[in-house]
Amino acid sequence: MKGKFITFEGIDGAGKSSHVEWLAEWLREKGQIVHVTREPGGTELGEKLRELLLHAPMHLETETLLMFTARREHLARLIEPALNRGEWVVCDRFSDATYAYQGGGRGLDRAKLQQLEHWVHGSLQPDLTLLFDLPLDVARERIALASRMLDRFEQERADFHERVRQAYLERAHSAPMRIRVINAQLSIEEIRKELQHIVATNCL
Ligand code: TMP
Repeated sequence: MKGKFITFEGIDGAGKSSHVEWLAEWLREKGQIVHVTREPGGTELGEKLRELLLHAPMHLETETLLMFTARREHLARLIEPALNRGEWVVCDRFSDATYAYQGGGRGLDRAKLQQLEHWVHGSLQPDLTLLFDLPLDVARERIALASRMLDRFEQERADFHERVRQAYLERAHSAPMRIRVINAQLSIEEIRKELQHIVATNCL
């Protein structure tokens, strides 16, 4: 028996993270066992790599390899065992983020990303990906309101984030059954209604 794997994606400031725990709770009320996790991170080692990835300057290929290193650990220790037990995994970002940020944002060759993706998770893909999309200026305003230190990605210029957004939208266009675009400018209630509808019709 295989569980379901749902991922959340979007540019920084899209507001996706506030819906992750909510969706998991809703699924638990429906009787599912649900793990909430995130990337980079999700394991003890992955969280250490996250610290480095978010704050230490590094070469683009190092950054990409570390994203996939954390992902391999995450898959081996949490995601794959949970799915094999028939449980659900709701993950804040996964490989679509690497295509969008390291590929679209930073310009890493797509063939390299495909090789790493194949090595690290073979044919395993999320059952459903919820892509939170909104105009860049709205996302930037939200980030500017954050009263914490911004990480290396949040500090990137607007053109970087615009490329990330376009890369995400292109991926959604090429995998419309898996990747569903959510208008992140809707109210929280409207977004939750839409999430319920999409998950109920695709996964339950
Ligand atoms: P978060 O703020 O949504 O937790 O994500 C942390 C940052 O890491 C975010 O700015 C996007 C970035 N990131 C990548 O650049 N590549 C990846 O593969 C992942 C998972 C995240």
